[in-house]
Amino acid sequence: MRVLSGIQPSGQLHIGNYFGMMRPMIANMADNELYAFIVDLHALTSVHDQKQLAAGTMEAAVDFLSLGLDPERCIFWVQSDVPEVTELTWVLSTLTPMGLLERCHSYKDKIAKGIAPNHGLFAYPVLMAADILLYQAQRVPVGKDQKQHLEVARDIAHKFNSLFGETFELPEAVIDDDLAVVPGLDGQKMSKSYGNTIPIFAGEKELKKRVMAIVTDSTPPEEPKDPDKCNLYNIYKLFAPADRLAQVRDLYLGGGAMYGKIKLELLEILWEYFRPARQRREQLLAEPDQVREILRQGAEKARARAVPTLEQVRRRVGLVY
Ligand code: ADP
Ligand code: TRP
Repeated sequence: MRVLSGIQPSGQLHIGNYFGMMRPMIANMADNELYAFIVDLHALTSVHDQKQLAAGTMEAAVDFLSLGLDPERCIFWVQSDVPEVTELTWVLSTLTPMGLLERCHSYKDKIAKGIAPNHGLFAYPVLMAADILLYQAQRVPVGKDQKQHLEVARDIAHKFNSLFGETFELPEAVIDDDLAVVPGLDGQKMSKSYGNTIPIFAGEKELKKRVMAIVTDSTPPEEPKDPDKCNLYNIYKLFAPADRLAQVRDLYLGGGAMYGKIKLELLEILWEYFRPARQRREQLLAEPDQVREILRQGAEKARARAVPTLEQVRRRVGLVY
């Protein structure tokens, strides 16, 4: 299977991104042809600060590599290093009904949050469709919020195929329902935009602040509680070893679970869980040229796949004369 997914280089990576997107992608390296990339052109729809975008792209690349993405076993690149994607975006734009984009929740949500509604933001799903179709991806692991964008990509692919002949595979979204939503400090979906995240690579002090801020109820420790309704437990269970998790679950059910103690334990487990990744990250941050070289080679491989698809598209629509 050809599996593909991208992440925006905007903001600190948090444990929701890790469980929802990065870990499933890394797990996919084993038996699939994996395409993983940093979508800097998408980020440009809302980040208009040169330093922030450039540094964010490097940081996202370093994070992905530190967490276990192996560039020898996948194709890993930065979106804008394969310029063919923008040409395909234009061709697909000419087939995309306005109404299809006007219905996109993500666009409406972003405007509601105060992001200026520029044309790029509106056309975001067309660029995403081009990302997916250019590499003939079959599976696209994403969080629930991206489901509609995958439907848009399928609609556009279908339209192209029926007008110009079978060209594109219809991609399928892969959404893991168990991990679809990692809760944030306040119990809502963990998200940068809600300010309720646990950043994977925060320093020890910052991490402690965040973990201690996980919202819990005021039931006295000796009273029984339902672990599944507790936000702290729902985060803790992502990291704790099975035997310890079973003990803590019993403490919730039988009385005796002390939130402060569990938080300190979570802090320790979190710190150890990401220790190897943190060490790799330090090394990679010290060698940015090595990271750039990995991305350059990735873009070359991605381009080799992209060019034949785009050539076929150009021929089919009549751009070759
Ligand atoms: P954020 O909501 O913090 O801005 P992004 O929209 O940049 O995160 O998401 C990047 C990837 O991580 C997407 O595939 C998204 O579905 C996934 N993701 C983000 N937050 C969560 C979460 N709380 N639980 C599961 N997956 C998430
Ligand atoms: N829109 C996705 C997000 O915000 C990122 C993305 C861009 C993407 N292109 C993609 C995801 C192609 C999967 C496939 O999370």
